[in-house]
Amino acid sequence: MRPPVIAVDGTAASGKGTLARRLAAYFGFAHLDSGVLYRLTALGVLEAGGDPGLESDALAAARALDQARAGELVLRSDAVGAAASKLAAIASVRAALLHYQRQFIDHPPGAAAGAVVDGRDIGTVICPDADAKLFVDAAPEVRAHRRWQELAGLGIQRNEAQVLEELVHRDAADRARAVAPLRQAQDAALLDTTNLGIDAAFAAALALVEPRLAAKLEAKPRG
Ligand code: C5P
Repeated sequence: MRPPVIAVDGTAASGKGTLARRLAAYFGFAHLDSGVLYRLTALGVLEAGGDPGLESDALAAARALDQARAGELVLRSDAVGAAASKLAAIASVRAALLHYQRQFIDHPPGAAAGAVVDGRDIGTVICPDADAKLFVDAAPEVRAHRRWQELAGLGIQRNEAQVLEELVHRDAADRARAVAPLRQAQDAALLDTTNLGIDAAFAAALALVEPRLAAKLEAKPRG
């Protein structure tokens, strides 16, 4: 039997990454930010002077993914995010990144007891039978403000209106693509974080996830 999985999908800067990290820490599960895979691929294309919308360029980068660079600040830039969204619409690129995600779920690293994976298509495509699924969203202005703050904290100064525009554009593209579009899985619980700080959002996430996981978890989760 595969280990328990929590799928956390949602819009850009909705707080899904932070929630996924905290859920993973709470349950002692491994965490995968699947967006990093798309961002690393985008970085590879951009650094090679390629076109993220071109299948041959994007696929070559997806196949040569350098996981060692997963923590690099440059991955967080909007240019990389926009390029990631472009190549994320290419079916063969998604297929090339699928195996890594499924492996992570089937064999969580560090012999962790389970996995929390965040992204856009985790509950719909990567792991449709996940034990618990969240779909995280918030008002675009709130998400843009959070992203702007996050970037400022990283020393990246941006115009907030521009951040909002890019975010709305990227969500629209992610929702409209033909392959693995951003959408709430039928059995995912919706979590709107518009009016929630991170602690309140985590409490709400836990309240939604814990009952769904209960049957699968033998031991009492760690606090
Ligand atoms: O989550 P993050 O903003 O890092 O994702 C960057 C882009 O990668 C998204 O806009 C989306 O197009 C793509 N992505 C995806 N499927 C995932 C994770 C990310 O298509 N599971």
